[in-house]
Amino acid sequence: MAEPATTDAPAVDTAAPDGWTVPAARPDVPGTDAGFVAPPSLADFGELARAVLPPEVWDFVNGGSGTETTLAANRAALDRVAVLPRVLTGVDTPGTEATLPGGSFAMPVAVAPMAYQKLLHPDGEVGLAAAARAAGVPYVASTLGSTPIEEVTAAGGPVWFQLYWLRDRGMVADLLDRAQAAGCTALMVTVDVPVLGRRLRDARNGFALPPHVTAANLPGGRNDLAHQGTPGVSAVAVHTGAVFAPALSWADLAWLRERTPLPLLVKGILDPRDAVLAAETGVDAVVVSNHGGRQLDGAPATATVLPEVVAAVGERCAVLLDSGVRSGSDVLRALALGASGVLVGRPMLWALAAGGRAGAEAALALLAAELRDALTLAGCADPAAARQLRTLVGD
Ligand code: FNR
Repeated sequence: MAEPATTDAPAVDTAAPDGWTVPAARPDVPGTDAGFVAPPSLADFGELARAVLPPEVWDFVNGGSGTETTLAANRAALDRVAVLPRVLTGVDTPGTEATLPGGSFAMPVAVAPMAYQKLLHPDGEVGLAAAARAAGVPYVASTLGSTPIEEVTAAGGPVWFQLYWLRDRGMVADLLDRAQAAGCTALMVTVDVPVLGRRLRDARNGFALPPHVTAANLPGGRNDLAHQGTPGVSAVAVHTGAVFAPALSWADLAWLRERTPLPLLVKGILDPRDAVLAAETGVDAVVVSNHGGRQLDGAPATATVLPEVVAAVGERCAVLLDSGVRSGSDVLRALALGASGVLVGRPMLWALAAGGRAGAEAALALLAAELRDALTLAGCADPAAARQLRTLVGD
């Protein structure tokens, strides 16, 4: 971590490509007292991360499946959504607070569940969870975390647990019990990974986890497989193939709904018919997600299908969106298309890589500031007003 700078000119402590640098702390700038000054955009965190990460880790984080068609489509679809701002609404400083399953939060954003965060920085899951707590947003802890769920919830703050369905139903039940005992306040079951998508970058890199990064919530869960590097093969894919259950069904979701009193979210919904089935099963929210373009290549962009899903479920449950969200304007776009909130994925890993917990705090502070500006520019007093905005979707 950089020492606090004493002048207005940010000191430089780490070289990065193309003229970007990791600036030292600016104790004179509100919100940066944790010692990290955000670059101007979340995308710039990506450049900082690329400079410090081993290439195969960068690829693991940023890659998609197949030809990465869906990965690219996510961004293109968000870019095509134009939001019609309202004027003369008398809004001065909008509030960003929003209701998501399980409570009211500082903004309609949660940190997406992402595996193996110690790959990025020693702060890992605890660092990102602490950053989410500071920002007042939920942190979603992955089944494939490299830190046990109990240590993550000890960081305080609202933590949701993301469940992958494992072949061993006893292990699923154990995980649920552990998550609840640890104080998780919602459960998010991911349903778009019957097998891992074909991540060609990982296969080409023969990607395997380094010894210090392991699936800490799954002791005894064939963790050895994720560490066995083989040329042309992703060890992470081999590991998930061995432990994930491919044949999850609606009956399993109903079992889960029965078993947990926690708010339940289903992540990985794209077809409105599935959204309706999920709502009828009693979930509190569906997350319109294609896993950031990492699962079915050729699946649609999430912004493209979101309006149909919102229309299909009506008031029966909330609808969140992820995959490609990179700014406060993107959050506004999702709200205007009818979402209650978003999950942010890769940008949080970039920020973690660039500056550990302080980097992640800076990224979430930046996103909050961007959202406030976007709401102001659109004439909205709060996220609920943004859901009344009209959109035009270009070609
Ligand atoms: C993920 N994602 C994911 N999802 C999940 O339910 N459980 C998990 O363990 C993971 N792991 C994971 C690792 C990495 C490195 C990435 C990039 C993504 C998917 C994640 O929750 C989310 O759906 C996408 O990342 C959203 O897209 P963006 O914001 O990254 O474009």
